[in-house]
Amino acid sequence: MTTLVTGGAGYIGAHTVRALRQTSRDVVVLDTLERGNKEAVIDADLVVGDIADKNLVAEICHKYKITEVVHFAAYKAVGESMTQPKMYWQNNVDGTVALLDTLIEHGVDRFVFSSSAAVYGTPKSVPVTENEPTMPESVYAETKLAVENILSSPERSAIKSVSLRYFNAAGASSDNEIGEDWLASQNLVPRVMRALLDQAFHFEVFGDDYPTRDGTCIRDYIHVEDLALAHIKALDYLEHGGKTMICNVGTGEGTSVKQLIEMATKVAQRAVPYTIGARRDGDPVSVYADTRLANGVLDWRATHDLQSIIESAFNWHRTHLTGYR
Ligand code: WQD
Repeated sequence: MTTLVTGGAGYIGAHTVRALRQTSRDVVVLDTLERGNKEAVIDADLVVGDIADKNLVAEICHKYKITEVVHFAAYKAVGESMTQPKMYWQNNVDGTVALLDTLIEHGVDRFVFSSSAAVYGTPKSVPVTENEPTMPESVYAETKLAVENILSSPERSAIKSVSLRYFNAAGASSDNEIGEDWLASQNLVPRVMRALLDQAFHFEVFGDDYPTRDGTCIRDYIHVEDLALAHIKALDYLEHGGKTMICNVGTGEGTSVKQLIEMATKVAQRAVPYTIGARRDGDPVSVYADTRLANGVLDWRATHDLQSIIESAFNWHRTHLTGYR
């Protein structure tokens, strides 16, 4: 019995593959390598291909006797999703529908989905609970919500699923074997790392005039290894008869951009060079998780604090200045 991980050559996928192997599960990864790194796939078979290739997915289900799936494969750049919406709808939604149909045909009935807190848009209250209205503000977020709705629909009741709404994943593996590719990410933490380690890189804080304690936006930064473990807990929950559900995966702590910069300065023992620029469109002022559902139903909670996140990220980037290349 084997776990199929789609997008397992990506940042969160690769960390989840390692967590699965540590539970002695056999794992096979399906990834196009369009945006992933084959070097990030450790101790698992890698099949290079697309989730929409029904014959290939059928072949994998048969050959590996797939019993459960963790589905990461998707485009995830918020800005790109606004300029290339068709590409996002085709890959993130149509591709997932093709995948689900093939899995159901082959009797696979457990599915963990990589969703995102971006489905909340700008929440009216924080911490955000799963009952908060969803108000996606990007095509990326709309595609994540669309898949959640597909998974919850009666037509797909044959497959039980857990949709995990990630808050802000960051950091690298504790053994420094895998980490984030800063060339493939526009997110805050990899950019702060580049500001510290690449003198040619210009890092800009997108606005410091927000109605927060220091004027910068607040987010819930969660260590990628904590995030990976949430997927294991979700699979265990489904294996023990758990019904389809959606839950937040965060720390429950809000951290501002300036607080994160201060932590990075402390860890690196040197100042993070940055300038203050204009606000970025679509940035909510404050988003952090209410984690009671995952804590209670999945018996999962984050264990790494912000310092651990930044230390692992700094350790990874300073020892892998060119990523996996
Ligand atoms: C965090 C904060 C920026 C870069 C998005 C997606 C979410 C997930 C994570 C995929 C914000 C500020 C950032 C920079 C900055 N993506 N910032 N300068 O926007 O909270 O979440 O990425 O799964 O679904 O919505 O993450 O890291 O881009 O931004 O000041 O160069 O850092 O304004 O306040 P975000 P982020």
